[in-house]
Amino acid sequence: MTTTRTFPPDFIWGTATASYQVEGAGREDGRTPDIWDTFCAVPGNIADGSNGSVACDQYHRYPGDIALMRELGVGAYRFSVAWPRIVPAAGGPANPRGLAYYDRLVDALLEAGIRPVVTLYHWDLPQYLQDKGGWPQRDTAFRFADYAGIVAGALGDRVDTWTTLNEPWCVAYLGYGCGAHAPGHKSHPEALAAVHHLNLAHGLGVQAIRAAAGEKAKTSITLNLSMTYPATDQAEDVAAAEQVWRIANGVWLEPELEGHYPEQVFADTAHVSDWSFIRDGDPADICQPLSNLGINYYSPNWVRRIPGAVTPTAAEAGANGWVGPHPGTETIESLPPDGELTAMGWSQHPEGLRDLLVRVAEAYPGLDLVVTENGSAWDDTVAPDGLVHDPQRVAYLAAHIEAIGQALDAGVPLKGYFAWSLLDNFEWACGYTKRFGLFYTDYATQNRIWKDTARWYQQLVTTNAVPA
Ligand code: FCB
Repeated sequence: MTTTRTFPPDFIWGTATASYQVEGAGREDGRTPDIWDTFCAVPGNIADGSNGSVACDQYHRYPGDIALMRELGVGAYRFSVAWPRIVPAAGGPANPRGLAYYDRLVDALLEAGIRPVVTLYHWDLPQYLQDKGGWPQRDTAFRFADYAGIVAGALGDRVDTWTTLNEPWCVAYLGYGCGAHAPGHKSHPEALAAVHHLNLAHGLGVQAIRAAAGEKAKTSITLNLSMTYPATDQAEDVAAAEQVWRIANGVWLEPELEGHYPEQVFADTAHVSDWSFIRDGDPADICQPLSNLGINYYSPNWVRRIPGAVTPTAAEAGANGWVGPHPGTETIESLPPDGELTAMGWSQHPEGLRDLLVRVAEAYPGLDLVVTENGSAWDDTVAPDGLVHDPQRVAYLAAHIEAIGQALDAGVPLKGYFAWSLLDNFEWACGYTKRFGLFYTDYATQNRIWKDTARWYQQLVTTNAVPA
């Protein structure tokens, strides 16, 4: 008899997207520009010179997309709210037409029996806030809290879970550190200031959500924790992996869940910043009760200490323009990805997801975890039968679902899994060249086409068991 892995009856299966990546309607109903509109307008920033002004047009096509999700059988949809639709100008007021869109979306999801899981910030900072300095500026955290309170007040009676931020790692380190994402700055001191103000925004945001939607509001944050392994078991490589863990993961986990930064991170980055932007009272504001922690996972990282490398002085660090993603890690390098790479050039190591979940669950016992993104990009084409056959994506998904099953077996309190993404969409600096969807987006017609992965996932989520 063939047995397949089954999942707990209340396990949540979902799909995820983000506002800028799918909505389009860039100038509609009072929306003003965000930092991605600005970043995309600079030649060379986006691989295909594109932007999110039309994207998947979900702003108009959400009823069709919800019908697809219903057919898929998912129980939850993780989407994000576009800040510049809600507060289009500095200081407000709230824009009723922007709020009305999310009102319609939430109602349509509930009607279809799909839980709305809302992310408040998936990278679309209003340009007017970047004009005042963006995330390296303290005031941005307070403006985020104002915005969070507005959305929670409007939708709080119907939203299942509130996620304050998506992947602050990318916001700080790609946006302000190495410049690969909007606003494209290359400054490690700015990146560390952004880290702190993102943490503050999270904590103030949770407080604003609870004030507006009540104590029962479920709150969360989504972190793309980097599963970092040492390249060898030699002490210097083990120490290198722990240093990367601190700057990649510890700077979010520890303040948000324990009320302090990892002490050693200040020494690791002393040549970059004195962290004087931390004020009395901030740690208490940042560390707020969470209903669960969202984790995004795609690929792990192996690191080693570069033989003979020395940490630069503050003057050298400022002058040499070293802009790897992690401040303070000049003496550490990552090994190149191995094995069959996805279209993003990322390696496939599902055991990294299991190991990550186990490590976080051991560090924070009692905290529910949710995989809020996981998926892979491949060079899909539409076959003569009109469908998309994507065996590599099915294999990636199946292997990672097995990995979360192993984490559950190990006792990890994992409550749900969201596949990235519902449909192919605007993949940030890669534009429309990378396809992560369960559904293929034909951008010329905006048709959504079933991929084999969507059929596989449909079978999984409707039976709660891995297809045999
Ligand atoms: C994550 C982002 C998401 C998507 C995937 C591929 O870092 O949160 O928007 O682009 O990567």
